Amino acid sequence: MAKRPEWLDTAVFYEIYPQSFKDTDGDGIGNIDGITEKLSYIKELGCCAIWLNPCFDSPFGDAGYDVADYCKVVPRYGTNDDLVRLFEKAHELGMHVILDLVPGHTSWKHPWFLESMKAGKNDYTDRYIWTDSIWEEPSGYGSLRGISDRDGSCVVNFFTHQPALNYGFYKPDRPWQQPMDSEGALSTREAMKDVMRFWLSKGCDGFRVDMAGSLVKNDENGKGTIALWQDIRAFLDKEYPEAAMVSEWGEPDKSLQGGFHMDFLLHFGPSHYNDLFRCDAPFFEGNGDASEFVAKYIENYEKSERKGLICIPSGNHDMDRLARHISEKNRRLAFAFLLSMPGAPYIYYGDEIGMNYVEGLTSVEGGYGRTGSRSPMQWDDTDNAGFSTAPSDKLYIPQDPDENRPTAKKQMEDEASLYHEIQKLIRIRNSEKALGNLGEIEFICDGAKGKPLAYIRSFGDEKILVVINPTASVQVISSEEPFGEEVYSCGDGAESSGTFCRINPSSAAFIKING
Ligand code: NOJ
Repeated sequence: MAKRPEWLDTAVFYEIYPQSFKDTDGDGIGNIDGITEKLSYIKELGCCAIWLNPCFDSPFGDAGYDVADYCKVVPRYGTNDDLVRLFEKAHELGMHVILDLVPGHTSWKHPWFLESMKAGKNDYTDRYIWTDSIWEEPSGYGSLRGISDRDGSCVVNFFTHQPALNYGFYKPDRPWQQPMDSEGALSTREAMKDVMRFWLSKGCDGFRVDMAGSLVKNDENGKGTIALWQDIRAFLDKEYPEAAMVSEWGEPDKSLQGGFHMDFLLHFGPSHYNDLFRCDAPFFEGNGDASEFVAKYIENYEKSERKGLICIPSGNHDMDRLARHISEKNRRLAFAFLLSMPGAPYIYYGDEIGMNYVEGLTSVEGGYGRTGSRSPMQWDDTDNAGFSTAPSDKLYIPQDPDENRPTAKKQMEDEASLYHEIQKLIRIRNSEKALGNLGEIEFICDGAKGKPLAYIRSFGDEKILVVINPTASVQVISSEEPFGEEVYSCGDGAESSGTFCRINPSSAAFIKING
């Protein structure tokens, strides 16, 4: 089991999409200095940890998830020194910063790939996965073909300009499929350890790992990929035991075995995450069904045996903004849930002020339908909502055109805003260990259609009932032990007496249980 850096026990993360957060040099694109300038804003909200999307040299065919140099901050965001300064300032404020590691593929412009495309053998021939004839396509995978003298088709991971790095095949079944312990596969793994060493030695606090569960190919049950990550875990334990690792995997039972400290529940994979937030009838909109999510959560929770943290994000750069599917009123209930579940919560920049999904945008840098969730942060009422001094038509992505669009300033000035609700929820989470990252959870009502979601969080002797009722009717929850003080309520709240609690429609409450 991976030893967890202590700061993860209380971490609430804030995800920053660097191109859209804050531009300090007037080119219309956010930069590292902009993030440094806004650290105190993030801290004041209550988030003490940051996940930064890729900020490395890239042709930006996939917003930076197509890396051309893992060890260089792309000039449009600043320099490596700027990033080191961000780490330092964050640490001074008691905050931590994790970077986005994209180990599965590079850009087709990466020097490794340019070498790998050559017909003659060189050190990078086996850095990617090539069939041994252009006429053979890798079955089950997309491929890049006919782009160089090398006779072969190259496996791609996501878009066609993202060739897959070679970590080997769990069960090779074609001559060109190399085993995991082949020289080529092992040298890729070592190269990725070097990338991690590079940034960890500069003060980064860990990594969010892109597509972490798909590195080894023909690996249906993930056994090969788990073994690979266990090897990386051994390297980290030895050289950087304080590095925090979170995987984009979506199957905590596997990723935590691989030595990750945290895994996300996501819009893809088996978690039913979006039954709650983004589907035809999201649970938090009042007439949905959370029961399959809860069943899957319990399964993951039990299988992961507290080996690590299961993380439920408010959204991310790949999903629709929460506001596209859930009204403001009900989003408060969603945040009451997100900030009272075990694991480390992740808030996507702008969700705390209720930023909208911007409709009808042309794709920017491989965003396609995701572009509307990546628009520039709205800080205040000045030009471009305080994001940038560039002319509006030069902004990275057009901003929400709504004249009543939310801004951080307006939200901070209004005591009754979503921002303040979230700030309050984080404060309560920090003051009640039962509600924190490590507290236990026991579900007592699974949010099946027409029902609320109710669970007991506990830590040692402390117990708190969380009840969230997005339905239109009053609901009653009972406990074996009497209810005590209410620590939070939202909407019309709840009334409790003895062992019964009556929760009003569109409301949430956290109530202590007297053991
Ligand atoms: C997942 C990332 O979150 C997404 O933005 C990216 O396009 C793909 N992985 C490919 O790297």
